[in-house]
Amino acid sequence: MPPFPDVHPPVCPPLPLLTGQKALVTGASSGIGKAVALELGRAGADVCVNYSSKEEPALEVVRELEAMGRTAFAFKADVAQESEVLAMFAAVRDRFGDLDILVNNAGLQQDAPLDEMTTAQWQKVIDVNLTGQFLCAREAVKEFKRHGVRPKLSCAAGKIICMSSVHEVIPWAGHVNYAASKGGVMLLMKSIAQEVAPHRIRVNSIAPGAIQTPINKAAWDTPEHYNALLKLIPYKRIGEPEEVGRLAAFLASDYADYVHGTTVFIDGGMTLYPGFETGG
Ligand code: BGC
Repeated sequence: MPPFPDVHPPVCPPLPLLTGQKALVTGASSGIGKAVALELGRAGADVCVNYSSKEEPALEVVRELEAMGRTAFAFKADVAQESEVLAMFAAVRDRFGDLDILVNNAGLQQDAPLDEMTTAQWQKVIDVNLTGQFLCAREAVKEFKRHGVRPKLSCAAGKIICMSSVHEVIPWAGHVNYAASKGGVMLLMKSIAQEVAPHRIRVNSIAPGAIQTPINKAAWDTPEHYNALLKLIPYKRIGEPEEVGRLAAFLASDYADYVHGTTVFIDGGMTLYPGFETGG
């Protein structure tokens, strides 16, 4: 264990950076997506809480947002299915009118050694993590181009944040489908960013490292696993979903208006080659 307590940062009072803006967060019923939805809400945004299977946790996020005084609703859609994505964007139009922020968060892992990975495992991860981001970004860009910049709300016509991973650059044995999907997200994001910048649409990625969520429970659920995980993190603690949520709120806001086409890593230094901590 590190020679200091496992101190996590305080939750700072939010700035009303996103007042009046409308956001869609995919995969928002748990983990990082839930925290992003809540932090966007704290920053003033109304939120469509997308979920793929379990309604009750999504409704709980909606209730939390409403308790903050926000307008929110839950919408069930599998982001890998074009017809469901189209229905979701139609619902956002009906309920919110305009859309200002898309957080392309929905993602999953289906891990297996390469020689045991089924085509179904490969395809599922690519479909949700990569095709899902393409479909939602495409529909969001149509919305953003339709309404253009509304200066009272934001300097940009719209903002897209793609949830990537440190595995957009760190190869990951036993997870080739996931790493390939996140590597794909990196150039999907950058190519969209290059294409839509003249429309004042901002596009960026967040690349989290180890964040304490259900997706990686096996990496932190026992002291042994947690200590093994810390070897990969120079900052010697796991991240909290709220930290990613606050970064998303910043990136979606005009404070980040000149941040475009880039990936912000939030990983306690996981991408710093921690194996070299003690020399090469
Ligand atoms: C994965 C987690 C993993 C983390 C760091 C994330 O993208 O979803 O399971 O703990 O990367 O390896």
